[in-house]
Amino acid sequence: MFKRIVVVCAVLAAFSGIAMAAEHKHGEEAGMSEHMAHVMGQGAQSDFTLMQIMHDLSFQLNRIQFGILTNNRLMVEQGATAITSHPAPKGGLKPYLKKNVDDIKSMAPVIDQDVHKAAVELAHDAKTATMLDLQEKTNSITKACISCHEMFRN
Ligand code: HEC
Repeated sequence: MFKRIVVVCAVLAAFSGIAMAAEHKHGEEAGMSEHMAHVMGQGAQSDFTLMQIMHDLSFQLNRIQFGILTNNRLMVEQGATAITSHPAPKGGLKPYLKKNVDDIKSMAPVIDQDVHKAAVELAHDAKTATMLDLQEKTNSITKACISCHEMFRN
């Protein structure tokens, strides 16, 4: 009887593991395409304004930085995950394009991809990397954020 319970538990654990892995993969892909859609300005992706999203991104970056300074890996992981899955602004970037339109159109997807890629790596390494390595990754996120702003503000 006891043996049977152990077997059932093992099978259940294996199945939930597979289900979680599949869900994780799916989530990552969905996040990526939504991300690109928002940069290209393909219609409304959420009801949030660009400002609301930018303020939250900034807050998540502070969360990561505080986590690194206090060795709180949970904060690093959660902040990075929030950045990878940020919603796309209503109407994409199009309404915010005023000058440097051609530069922004060609560069924004690349820069946005840099932010996304570094945040995925940061979330992945949050539990194991040294605080200095996590800081390096965080710096690459911040630099990518800033290079996009440079294009809009110059
Ligand atoms: C695809 C381009 C792009 C990327 C990438 C980007 N931003 Fe922005 N951000 C903008 C635009 C456009 C604005 C609004 C125009 C402006 O402030 O110059 C903005 C504005 C901001 C503001 C100012 C909001 C205000 O109230 O004035 C903050 C803070 C901000 N972003 C944080 C971030 C952070 C943190 C990241 C990286 C995790 C990031 N942004 C990545 C395009 C981008």
